[in-house]
Amino acid sequence: MSNNASKIESNISQSMLTELDSVFIQTFGAAPVRHFQAPGRVNLIGEHTDYNDGFVLPCAIDYQTLVAVTPRDDMTVSVVAVDYSNEQDEFSLDCDIEVHSTQMWSNYVRGVIKHLQRRGHIFKGANLAITGNVPQGAGLSSSASLEVVIGETFRGLYNLLLTKAEVALNGQEAENQFVGCQCGIMDQMVSACGSKFNALLLDCRSLQTELISMPENLAVMIINSNVKRGLVDSEYNTRRLQCEEAAHTLGLKALRDISLIELQNSKIKLPDVVYRRAHHVVSDSERTVLAAKALRNNDVTQLSQLMAKSHISMRDDFEITVPPIDFAVKILTEYLGDKGGVRMTGGGFGGCLVALMPHDMVDGAKLLMAERYEVETGYKETIYICSASDGAGEI
Ligand code: GLA
Repeated sequence: MSNNASKIESNISQSMLTELDSVFIQTFGAAPVRHFQAPGRVNLIGEHTDYNDGFVLPCAIDYQTLVAVTPRDDMTVSVVAVDYSNEQDEFSLDCDIEVHSTQMWSNYVRGVIKHLQRRGHIFKGANLAITGNVPQGAGLSSSASLEVVIGETFRGLYNLLLTKAEVALNGQEAENQFVGCQCGIMDQMVSACGSKFNALLLDCRSLQTELISMPENLAVMIINSNVKRGLVDSEYNTRRLQCEEAAHTLGLKALRDISLIELQNSKIKLPDVVYRRAHHVVSDSERTVLAAKALRNNDVTQLSQLMAKSHISMRDDFEITVPPIDFAVKILTEYLGDKGGVRMTGGGFGGCLVALMPHDMVDGAKLLMAERYEVETGYKETIYICSASDGAGEI
């Protein structure tokens, strides 16, 4: 373990690192020489806007995927996954890397490495052990953090000429083309480029980023509804196709290229469901830019309203929320009033809510959820208080 491990500002405990190293030693017979991390993310606002070239406002969180690694002299990559009962995978860089038929986690590793090769990067093999504490299947981008940490590891190990944004793009390519989910660029970009104490306003067309300082008076609460979601199997790809249909029918490159007023004036040209999908995307992208401004000015009232409207838009127009999440958003909205904001975050069909609130309202929010959520929905929530964190790097 590198001796500056104490620099990790996160929920990564020393025991996680110790276990990672001990599995590495058991598997490969010697201690790893380097460690890398990439965080999960929470999106404050701007949902399903990324693949429409719009704006998003996520922050990286202090839950990460970790890799312990030693380079090899041959062309073999050998991996062990601590969180999957130490399952292993091994493949050669000399052959065409193929999809693993049973171990889904391996495909993120294989896909990222294959796409690095496709980009023309030349490197040798490595022994890797992977662990993490990003909740899986909760919409906090555990997959993106795995893609980014693998990219970052090979970049660091072999001095590959890649920018952070290219590490992100490579991860997205792997997920789109190797794993088969047509996700946008938000999750990988914020996992690669996130910054401590800041949210990231990302223009998903130009990939330009602007750091927006998180107001110190607001806590970032993530509430896992524990309604399980599966992005690949979900309706994600259908939503994407509907957005493309809207853009195509309106003669646009992407929904980014129309304002809300223009869209409203074109309503008649689109089938109702396609119009509502486009209405969500265009309005949420506009709200994102306004929310970044509100965050910058610490205008919590405005932020609160924008987050509430974003949730309603996801519920009624994009139809990606589920009743337990709508219930939690309703009771928290009533509780927070204009002192904070709450909405579903991530791809939808389960997963998490994000809430911003004054620190002294955190205990009350927890109590409210404990008293009402499970009784009403049959699910038990899990709550995380997060800090905006740095993107991927060496530990
Ligand atoms: C998932 C995808 C992202 C984005 C969100 C919805 O997290 O990976 O690209 O589309 O859903 O905003």
